[in-house]
Amino acid sequence: MAEEPSDAQKYYVRPEDAEGYAKGILQGNGVPLGNADIVAKCLVAADLRGVDTHGVNRIPSYMARIRQGVLDARAQPTLHEVTPVVAQVDAHNAFGFVAAHMGMAKAVEMAKIYGIGMVGVKHSNHFGMSAWLVQQAIDAGMMSLVFTNSSPALPVWGGKEKLMGVSPIACGAPGGKEKPFILDMAPSVAARGKIYKAKRRGEKIPADWALDAEGRQTDDPAAALEGVMLPMGGPKGSALSIMMDVFSGVLSGSAFAGHVTNPYDPSKPADVGHFLVAIKPDLFMSLEDFKGRMDYLSQRCVGCEKMAGVDRIYFPGEIEQLTEETRRRDGIPYVEAEINALNDEAERVGSAKLKVVEQ
Ligand SMILES: NC(=O)c1ccc[n+]([C@@H]2O[C@H](COP(=O)([O-])OP(=O)(O)OC[C@H]3O[C@@H](n4cnc5c(N)ncnc54)[C@H](O)[C@@H]3O)[C@@H](O)[C@H]2O)c1
Repeated sequence: MAEEPSDAQKYYVRPEDAEGYAKGILQGNGVPLGNADIVAKCLVAADLRGVDTHGVNRIPSYMARIRQGVLDARAQPTLHEVTPVVAQVDAHNAFGFVAAHMGMAKAVEMAKIYGIGMVGVKHSNHFGMSAWLVQQAIDAGMMSLVFTNSSPALPVWGGKEKLMGVSPIACGAPGGKEKPFILDMAPSVAARGKIYKAKRRGEKIPADWALDAEGRQTDDPAAALEGVMLPMGGPKGSALSIMMDVFSGVLSGSAFAGHVTNPYDPSKPADVGHFLVAIKPDLFMSLEDFKGRMDYLSQRCVGCEKMAGVDRIYFPGEIEQLTEETRRRDGIPYVEAEINALNDEAERVGSAKLKVVEQ
C-alpha cells in the first residue's frame, strides 16, 4: 500500500500546478522542454496514485545528481531496431523516465503491427514508479511487462550484504467497463518508508522486514535502517529481484549483479537497465471478447466471498486508481518540510514555487 507522507498537516497542490512546478525546475537544470514534460508528468502520476515515495519529492535528489555531473540533463536517448519486434534504447545517461518512455512507445508501435514489441534499455537512470509505463501501454490499448533493476538494497536469500535492488516487477492489461489490471510491486516485504515511519513514531517493526548490520533479524527500526531490507516470501522475493536483474541488467547490456550505482553515490552514473514488452490483447480473439473476459475476471475477484474482517476486495491497481480520483479532485497532499525542500530547489534556479491550494 502506498503511504501517506506523515501525520503532519497536509498542504494540497493541484496536479497541474505540481506538473508546472516540476517542469520549471527541470528546465532550470538544463532538461530540454519535451523531456522535462515527460519527467514532470511521470512524477506527478506517482503522487496522484498515492505512490508518494516516487513522486515530486524525488526532485531534490535527481537535481543533486545533475549538479554532481552523474545524470546528464541534456542527453537524448537513441534507439536501434534489432528485429521487427525487438529494439534497444541507449539512454546515454539521460533520465530513466525519458529513455523508458521512448522504449515503451517503440514497443507499442511494434506490437500494433506484429502483436508484440520488446525493448531493452541500457545506460539509464531510475524511472520512479513503474505503473506510469504500464499506464502508457494501457492508454495505447496494450498489455505490458515492465521490469527494471536498481542499486543494491536487498540480500539474496541467505546472504546479509546488499546485492540485489528493490526492483519492482510490473505488468498490466486493459479492462472493458472495469478498471484495468495494474500490478506494480517491489520484491521487499515492506517499503523502506514504512521503517522510517516506525522510527519517527517510536514503534517496533515486524521481525521479518529487515536485518540489522550484523545480519540478524530485528524489530528495531533504527537498527533495520543500518542493515538490509528483506525480500518478500523469502527465496521467492529474492528470486524475483534476481529475475529483474537478468532481464533488465544482463540482457540489456547495463550494469547488473550489484553494480547499479546507489542514488547517493556521486562518483559515477547509475547505469540502470530496463526491459519493456507491449502485447496486443486481441491476438487470439476479438478485442471485445478480451475486454469482456478481463471484466469477468475483475468481477469474479472483487465479488468473491470475503475473509473475516475484510469489507471490500480490490483488483490490483484499483486502490491507486481510487486515490488518483480523489487527488485529482482535492489536490495532492504534501507536508510543510517537503514543500520547503521543493521550493528551495525552485529558488536555486529561479523557477516558480509550488502553489498551495487555499483551504
Ligand atoms: N524504480 C525503482 O527502482 C523502484 C524501486 C522500488 C519501488 N518502486 C516503486 O515503488 C512503488 C511501491 O511498490 P510497493 O511494492 O510498495 O507497492 P504496494 O505494496 O503498495 O502495492 C503492490 C501491488 O499490490 C496491489 N495492492 C496493494 N494492496 C492491495 C489490496 N489491498 N488489494 C489488491 N491489490 C493490492 C497494488 O495495486 C500494487 O499493484 C511501485 O510503484 C514501484 O514501481 C520503484
